[in-house]
Formats: sequence, C-alpha cells, structure tokens
Amino acid sequence: MPSPASMPAWQALADHHRAAADIHLRDLLADDDRTRNLTFALGGLCLDLSKNRLTDTTLALLLDLAVARGLPARRDAMAAGEAVNETENRAALHMALRARAEDGFAVGGRPVHGEIQAVLDHMADFVAGVENGTRTGATGKAFRDVITIGIGGSDQGPRLACRALAPYRRRGLTPRFVSNVDATDLTEALHACDPETALIIVSSKTFTTSETMTNAMTARRWLTEALDSDAVAKHFCAVTSNDAAARDFGITDDALFDFWDWVGGRYSVWSAIGLPLALTAGMEVFRDFLAGARDMDRHFLEAPLAENLPVLLALAGIWNRNFEGAAAHAVLPYDQLLDGLPDYLQQLEMESNGKAVDRDGAAVTQPTAPVVFGQAGTNGQHAFYQLLHQGTDLVSADFIAAVEPAHPAGDHHDKLLANFLAQPAALARGRKAGPGVPPHKVFAGNRPTTSILLDRLDPHGLGMLLALYEHKVFVQGVIWNVNSFDQFGVELGKELAGPLTGALTQGTEPAGLDASTRSLLDRIRRVRDGGGRP
Ligand code: F6P
Repeated sequence: MPSPASMPAWQALADHHRAAADIHLRDLLADDDRTRNLTFALGGLCLDLSKNRLTDTTLALLLDLAVARGLPARRDAMAAGEAVNETENRAALHMALRARAEDGFAVGGRPVHGEIQAVLDHMADFVAGVENGTRTGATGKAFRDVITIGIGGSDQGPRLACRALAPYRRRGLTPRFVSNVDATDLTEALHACDPETALIIVSSKTFTTSETMTNAMTARRWLTEALDSDAVAKHFCAVTSNDAAARDFGITDDALFDFWDWVGGRYSVWSAIGLPLALTAGMEVFRDFLAGARDMDRHFLEAPLAENLPVLLALAGIWNRNFEGAAAHAVLPYDQLLDGLPDYLQQLEMESNGKAVDRDGAAVTQPTAPVVFGQAGTNGQHAFYQLLHQGTDLVSADFIAAVEPAHPAGDHHDKLLANFLAQPAALARGRKAGPGVPPHKVFAGNRPTTSILLDRLDPHGLGMLLALYEHKVFVQGVIWNVNSFDQFGVELGKELAGPLTGALTQGTEPAGLDASTRSLLDRIRRVRDGGGRP
C-alpha cells in the first residue's frame, strides 16, 4: 500500500492546511452551526470535536482519506476474523467477546460465540461460589481480598474498570493489583491481606511474563508458608491461554479461565481478564460493561463514516498529529474514578501505534502515535497545564467528564464540571495582548481539544468509552498502515534483561555489554559487595 503522504487525499489535506493556516479557533467557535455539526452522540456519550481547529471541509477531506486508505474493508476484515495481525498471523476479535450470538463473529470461519459464553458461564459460577460461600479459602473463611497479579494488558484493563466502577463494588471484597517486579508492589499488597482470606488471580496470556511469574511465585510462597501447599488450589486462579503452565503452577481446572490467541493483551479486559471486576462488582456489572462496548461496536461497524464516533475521533487525531504537528496527546479525565484512564490509553495507543515500520515492512513517512500522558483533572491543572497553555509545543488533549457525580457533595461536581468546561475554552480561545495584558499573560490559544461527556460513569458508559478508544486506535493504524496488534518494540529490552538478571543473581558475565551498561553493573556489584563506590 502506498504511504499515506503520497496519496492525493493526503495532499489535499496538506493544501487545505496551508490555506487554513490563519484560521483561529476563537473565530471558529463563534459559529453555533459549526459546533452543532461537529458534535456527535451515541446513547449517553457525547463527542464534541468543535474545539479542534477543523471545519466541515477538513472533516470531508479527512473522510476522503479514510476511504482512500481502505478503512471500511480493513474494518470488515477485522470483524470477519481475518488475520489482521499479520506479523503474528492472528485475528483481533475482541469485539466477539462482547457480542451477542446473532452478531455472528467467527475466526477462520469457526464461530466463537459458544466458547466465549462457556468462559462467561464459568466466570459466573466462580463468582457465585465466592458470593454464596461455597468457594472459600483453605480454612473455610470467606474471601475478603482479590489480588490480581498481571502486567500490561493483563493489569491495566481490570485495574481501570475496578477503579472506575468502585461505586458498584460489593461489600466485603477488595480488589488489589500487583504488576511491578519491584517487590514493593507485592509486599505492600500482601501486607494488607490475610492469607486465609486472599484470592489470588494470576492473569497472563502467556503465563511466562517475567514480572508476573516472579510475583506469582513469591505470592505462592507467602500463601504456603502461612497455610500449606494444598492451599494453592483453593486460593489461586488463573486467566491464561497457556493452560499447561497454569496447571504446573498448581491451579486446578475449576479455577482456570481460558482466553484466546485472537485477543490481544491490551484488548483483553472483556475476556476473563475482567474477572476482578466480575468478582468485586458482580457478573451483572461485568455484562453491562460488555453491553456498552457492544453498542459502540455495532455503531462502529454500521454507522456511516461521517457519523461514526470512533472514526471521527481518530480523524481529528490524525489532523492534530500529522497536519497541526502535535507530538503529544493529553488524556484528562475530570473524574477521579477515571484516574487510571491515562495509563490505560497510554498502553492502548503507544503499544498499538507507536511504530515506524508499516505493514509492508517499509519505513513510515509521517509521524504515527503521539506520546500519550495525562492525569485526572483538576490535579493536572496545577502541574503540567502551564505547558499546555503557554508552552512551545502543541499538545492535543481529550477532556472527559460525567454529568452525574459519583459522590454528590455540596458544589464539588459543579466546580469540577466548571473546570472541565473552562480549560478547553481557554486553550481554544486564548487571550490576546493588549492594555493590561503583558506578554507573560498572553495565551496564544488555538490549542486543539476534544470533549467527551458521559451522562454518567456506569458500567455501560465505561464499556462504550473504552471501545470508542479501541476503534479510534484501529482507525489510526489503518490510516498509517501499521499493524496495531503486535508489540515487538517490547522484546529487545526483555532479551537483554535475561543475561543481566544472570549477572546479578549468579555473577555470570554477559557477553557484548556496552561500556555504559557494564559500568553501571560494576557499580551495583561493588556497592552490594560493600566494596564502596569507585
Ligand atoms: O508489554 C508487552 C506485553 O506483551 C503486553 O502486550 C501484554 O499485555 C503484557 O506484556 C503482558 O503479557 P501476558 O499477559 O502474556 O503476561
């Protein structure tokens, strides 16, 4: 496939961008019709693109680009279970996990609904057992803590969902998450728990990830030292596509939940990887979460491109990244319960589209994923917004809020929403120089933002929101012609860490170290050996 930048549709956008160089958001935002035309909704989710520096013409040209890049066909190929993850020869069928039977998802022609439902039924049985007390710890006590050990996609999704839906949490079960191989993470979690009442989920698609297996083995030792080795079968469960390794670990089949190679880690919260949410908030909440995502999927698959929320969000991102030149993108949830969203989207966007080689193996000729970062509003306002408003780099941003508060208290939510409204308005409009406005008080404005407003942050709304972003990332991958479903960029560091672990634990001498790494390794060894610093 030709590079996007070599296509007439791209050139048309570049020409349009040059012609529109002097247009300021301040002026665009005076037009009510434009705002109406650039505001879209699906159920309880509203997407306002009008604070991006684009016009109806821009959008029309971006839609032409999407068609020229073959978006409808690529989308349909993903939905048809084709191996759209070409480097790993796998489908990317996370949509099937939240589908109904009539949606008819299949991989390689084989329907998958039945096996997905079987895992959901297994989850429902397991959750019911924990709830009704037929499934307890080894000493017969009810579980009180659910400790999930996983990393990356096996951690971020359930961590975010449990946090975001904390108001739906049942009494008595506390979700905890351990991901870092730094023992502080596990130690702090275990200190807060009693082995007799701890249920430990090892979440790992491969069941080989170093951080996860190191934490799982230490947790198993903690448990067996407090109880006995038979307790493993009662206190551990696993979510994995490597059943054999989970069984070797001591996990019994009744506590072993499958997922499939066609579910990528960062797209897996909809599978049994979501078990922490199902356990702590209940199966009904988990199913509502799936239903919200399905609503977004149906919309993505069926709505015309010009009304399609994930497509439009993606295209606004392409405009900001490739034409406006924003190298960073801020995720700014004005909702404390979504404080994990920046981390979640950081993995989703940067691991999916942080790529410099296209699907044909050629070097890309335009920037791909921006650096994604963020923080819950209003905290970020008192940290990095200075740069968003007056810094030298353009940063695009998504502002996300819910109309209904999770915790109504006085005027807190009014103040929160006032900031959610004020910040994008300030970024867009800026403040001109003039009498009483010295240079350091001037705001150039013209800083592009998107506002996403949920009626409420409930399981359905969260499902819609996360699926919106999944499809946005997919659409951008299609425009850039990168494979959004592999992540070979994480491999090299892992490979180098192997011999360095040996060097630190057994004193072996890794070959081929560069001078800087060798010097740091030597310093660690000298300080450890009490030999002092050089
Ligand atoms: O960071 C690389 C990665 O492969 C992620 O894509 C994945 O979500 C994570 O590691 C965890 O992998 P696993 O679920 O196999 O432990």
